[in-house]
Amino acid sequence: MHLSDRTSRISTSQTMKVTANVDRLRREGVEVIDFGAGEPDFGTPPPIGAAGHKAIDQNFTKYTPVGGIAELKQAICDRYKADYGVQFSPAEVMTSAGGKQALFNTALALFNAGDEVITHAPYWPTLSEQVKLAEATPVLVRTRAADGFAIKADAILSAVTPRTRGIIINSPCNPTGALISEADLTAIAKAAAARGIWVVVDLCYEKLIYDEVPHNLPKVLSDHCRENAVICGSASKAYAMTGWRCGWTIAPAAVVAAQNAIQSHATSNVSSITQKAVLEALTGSQAPVATMLNEYRVRRDNLCQWLGEDSRIKVVKPAGAFYLFPDLSEVMADAGFVTSTDFAQALLDESRVAITPGEAFDAPGFARMSYATSMEHLREGSRRLLEFARRHTLHTARP
Ligand SMILES: Cc1ncc(COP(=O)(O)O)c(C=O)c1O
Repeated sequence: MHLSDRTSRISTSQTMKVTANVDRLRREGVEVIDFGAGEPDFGTPPPIGAAGHKAIDQNFTKYTPVGGIAELKQAICDRYKADYGVQFSPAEVMTSAGGKQALFNTALALFNAGDEVITHAPYWPTLSEQVKLAEATPVLVRTRAADGFAIKADAILSAVTPRTRGIIINSPCNPTGALISEADLTAIAKAAAARGIWVVVDLCYEKLIYDEVPHNLPKVLSDHCRENAVICGSASKAYAMTGWRCGWTIAPAAVVAAQNAIQSHATSNVSSITQKAVLEALTGSQAPVATMLNEYRVRRDNLCQWLGEDSRIKVVKPAGAFYLFPDLSEVMADAGFVTSTDFAQALLDESRVAITPGEAFDAPGFARMSYATSMEHLREGSRRLLEFARRHTLHTARP
């Protein structure tokens, strides 16, 4: 069969594969503890849902402008002004079907064949796959558990070559939960501005940061490389709206215009109903976000503590997002597993616990555990994981 070359360059999302496996088992009636989910377990806050209902009741069900209705674009500008003190105009904003499409439009609008685009790993694989779909080459800069997966400017900048066209930063990062510091992003922004390199910042988890740490990335970009900066955001994770599909791009007006053109020939506008719901999410009370964040914080702390019962499992406490990314390499070695994928498969088969193997994020030896699930599941899932690790341990002298 003759498929396009581009299809051979990319692979399907491994995180989605875990979801599909869990789905299949559940349909077969098997009870699975799922640490695989990359989405909030909370329902969409009721006022947001009500705005969606109202849109249907009022027959707000037609095409809208490709980049979104004017009120929504203004609401995005107002939200960033309120949250970050940075002024954007509606011409610098557009909405897309999730942060994923915002990032995809960005890759298609900015990168050419032969360009190099730097990002950091462990990483959310879609970032590099989208770069490949744009026929550019991803260049991965490794962050390390030993220093909290910190995303460092000097490491990123030392990967710059004459072919570098873009740098993509994801903060908070999926899967590590690490943040980039304002100082590091400033150094990247200044260097990028001097060399005409695009800085794309994936802020999909921007509302899910646990401590009061400086993370005003929009201001850093606006101050130091506004003409070269693209911000991609999303309603999915902050407002528990993954299925509604709405994200946005904030970028120089010419970039937004190019992305509008691309999207106009691909998917057109985000669902009109979703747009009204996201308008409510952005302009209504932000209290539900704080409530969810507080719950994630308690879950994170408990899960770290529970997994800490096996001293071979090394955990860096995530600063943001809702994933733990433990180093399982010692347990895997003791238990005779060569890859995280084998470990995860055996854990699913024997103990009915789903985790996403580190290979999915270019980090063998690690695994991602989403704590966007109930406390009971977290307790029971970690109990099963510890028991599995004990049972498979070859060196009985170790704990
Ligand atoms: C790092 C990161 N960026 C962007 C997205 C896109 O999410 P959505 O398309 O639902 O906005 C995700 C989703 O998992 C993500 O993990």
